[in-house]
Amino acid sequence: MTGKRRIRGIADEVLSVSMLTVWIDNERIEVEPGSTVLDAARRLGIDIPALCHWPGRAPVTSCMACLVRVEDDERLVPSCSLPVRDGMHIQSEVAEVHDARRTAIELLLSDHAGDCLAPCHRICPLHMNIPKMARQISEGDLRSAIQTVREDIALPSILGRVCHHPCEGGCRRGPHDGAVTVQQMERYVADEDFAAEPLYTPTRQPDTGKRVAVVGTGVAGLTAGYHLLRMGHSCGLYDKDGDIGGSLRSRYSQAELPCEVVDAEVDLMRRLGAAFFSGARLGQNLSLGELRADFDAVLLATGQGSAALAKELGIASDERGIVVAPRTCATEVEGVFAAGEAVRGECLLVRAAADGKLAAAVINRLFRGEALAGAGKEFSSAMGRVAETELSRIIEGQSQAARVEWGTNQSFISGVDLRTQATRCLHCDCRKADTCRLRHYAQEYQANPRKYRTQRRDFSQQDDHPFVLYEPGKCISCGRCVSLCSEAGGSLGLTHIGRGFDVRIGVPFAEPLQGALEETAEECVAACPTGALSRKQEGTSSCRKSILCRCNAAGAD
Ligand code: SF4
Ligand code: SF4
Ligand code: SF4
Ligand code: FES
Repeated sequence: MTGKRRIRGIADEVLSVSMLTVWIDNERIEVEPGSTVLDAARRLGIDIPALCHWPGRAPVTSCMACLVRVEDDERLVPSCSLPVRDGMHIQSEVAEVHDARRTAIELLLSDHAGDCLAPCHRICPLHMNIPKMARQISEGDLRSAIQTVREDIALPSILGRVCHHPCEGGCRRGPHDGAVTVQQMERYVADEDFAAEPLYTPTRQPDTGKRVAVVGTGVAGLTAGYHLLRMGHSCGLYDKDGDIGGSLRSRYSQAELPCEVVDAEVDLMRRLGAAFFSGARLGQNLSLGELRADFDAVLLATGQGSAALAKELGIASDERGIVVAPRTCATEVEGVFAAGEAVRGECLLVRAAADGKLAAAVINRLFRGEALAGAGKEFSSAMGRVAETELSRIIEGQSQAARVEWGTNQSFISGVDLRTQATRCLHCDCRKADTCRLRHYAQEYQANPRKYRTQRRDFSQQDDHPFVLYEPGKCISCGRCVSLCSEAGGSLGLTHIGRGFDVRIGVPFAEPLQGALEETAEECVAACPTGALSRKQEGTSSCRKSILCRCNAAGAD
């Protein structure tokens, strides 16, 4: 079983070493003596959640997430510290091992103090990355801010005026001294962009050759069209009247929502490639059969009172409107979807917009041959209620500017006001939400962060370093940063503080972080597997999807 391999030594002598053979999940591999099971698994391309392991260093075995089962042994053992024995058989991808890994991850999360996504971000039905926008506004980078806004919101100058802004209702700062003025920031960024030269036009994916008909040009239809166009599909939008915008033009006064604002958003859609057809009445001069024949999918965004239309078209309806399957917007007719008030009856504008966005995502999945309901919810750790004492401590080091209440006219908005308002944001998101390995594996193993919930740690931030933020509540005590500091030989460094379950990383003698990370700031941030050590501006990275698409290249190994 033992193989031989020739390797070249320092003096270029040819040596011969005995290779060890190991089977992991019945896959055979030969490894050099001294290799661990984790090393062997990685060479086979088997992904084991090794959170505290650091290649090339002695194992610390603190996370216990890398467990495997040795076949002739009942025990589960950490693969990062298990040396390969010749002829060993290992089980990695079996239910018992997965359950144990999930438990280890859930225990790491049991007292975790941190939010992957900010409360406002989670609550916004369109899931706009609000703290990222706030950082960009406070830096005066409005071009990046409009990109952030338009990533998730198709019609920001409209929602920035007439959304009922549930995001502000969930703002962490709210109970202390008033929520951050999210809606005004959104409006400001969109209005400034419309006044700018050149106007920001979102990028489109390469043409997919797929064509979608959207019937109805209210907020659900326009939102769906916007996202479908961005995904690279062609989009024809049909409106029964002459003015594109549906009830957006009749539901609000000119002071609340000027028609010029709707026109500007419609023009942007045209720049994106939307084709609008006015005077098209479904069931009269436009038939569903024709649309189904001419397009790859049809979306009915026909607004309130669509039950009667559904009956005419032979589609199931109830007292509110067209009946669709949960989470997919799919009607019972293949390739025909419905969204917004056509399904719900009268509803909040942002809810209709969220439906339009969902419908676009579902139609995109249809074209890609994926399950319409998608991959399920993104993992997000949430701290829950923050005590007033914690909140006061967080706010202490932040902007003390008061919230400005905007009048209905809102004509006094200025860049200076909005930048000041943006600095009130507490940045409750995790700067490493894209790359945190704990989050990545929590998602992969479907961990329940509340399963072993104990008294969570106090939420605190040490931000006395020019660009590094330390959040002890997110530390998993892997010791990487401690090793890096000690290897660099600085006078202070980081150290383990406390005992047992309560051991944490900190700066000796409660000195400032800057002194501890004199030589190693960048390296420590890169090595930290969680968001405990992060760059203050890290949340402005553009990719938020890596956690789902498994592109974790930017994360620490
Ligand atoms: S104002 Fe509405 S659309 Fe804008 S972030 Fe808040 S909830 Fe989302
Ligand atoms: S303080 Fe900022 S990040 Fe936190 S909830 Fe409010 S707007 Fe969102
Ligand atoms: S702060 Fe240090 S010990 Fe804690 S998780 Fe990050 S690298 Fe590991
Ligand atoms: S115990 Fe093996 S990686 Fe943490």
